[in-house]
Amino acid sequence: MNWDSKINKERLPKHIAVIMDGNGRWAKLKGKPRVFGHKNGVKSVREISEASAELGIKYLTLYAFSTENWNRPKLEVTALMALLVETIRKEISTLNKNNIRLNAIGELSKLPGKSHKALVEAIEGTKTNDRMTLTLALNYSSRWELTHAAKQLAKDVKKGLINEEQIDEKVFNSYLSTNNIPDPELMIRTSGEKRVSNYLLWQMAYTEFCFLDVFWPDFNREHLYKALVDFQSRERRFGKTSEQLTN
Ligand code: FPP
Repeated sequence: MNWDSKINKERLPKHIAVIMDGNGRWAKLKGKPRVFGHKNGVKSVREISEASAELGIKYLTLYAFSTENWNRPKLEVTALMALLVETIRKEISTLNKNNIRLNAIGELSKLPGKSHKALVEAIEGTKTNDRMTLTLALNYSSRWELTHAAKQLAKDVKKGLINEEQIDEKVFNSYLSTNNIPDPELMIRTSGEKRVSNYLLWQMAYTEFCFLDVFWPDFNREHLYKALVDFQSRERRFGKTSEQLTN
């Protein structure tokens, strides 16, 4: 099946969020260490970024490291951070060639110095690109993001910069790390797990979920096309009835 030809290019989501899951299980099946799975996961990161940019998707957000991931064995965390630095450094020129801007959300200041530096350099070095924004969620969790936003807002109220009556959804949204990014219309999670795992909870209030039975290192552009065809077959009602949508 050629899924690409089934996509309606006029009705693409502006923003796709992804939970890249199953690297460890993929490696285990092959009798390899978990880090081998993460290394192969980078190929899928490249593939989904390329395919999304080619389709005209404006925002792609990848869950690369959650706040909870610090609880993994030290060796795996260190290897993941090293892989991140290496990948980011290696890919800057490709990002620029493809006019892709790199962005990151999460508690970035708590990342190891080297990872933080590589990230900041890549963000700075790609900031004028405007074909697609590739956001890495790093040391990210939604509950951290929401708590952080509430704290910042409380500080601004205390300073008299804003008062309680002015706080609405739009104002609250402006305190989130995704404030310049539209909410994702589609979220893809690989590996067969059907959870949101503390990811973009505020932003995904109306998002369509697509759970794929493929481990992340095996994810390819056909899986993306298939998810988009599935997404386009759904009726997004935002609390309205079907009849209201056609009127
Ligand atoms: C989940 O699989 C994957 C991660 C926690 C890390 C994802 C990182 C990469 C794909 C590599 C680096 C990425 C970038 C953007 C440079 P898992 O380890 O939870 O798999 P499991 O559920 O099978 O154990």
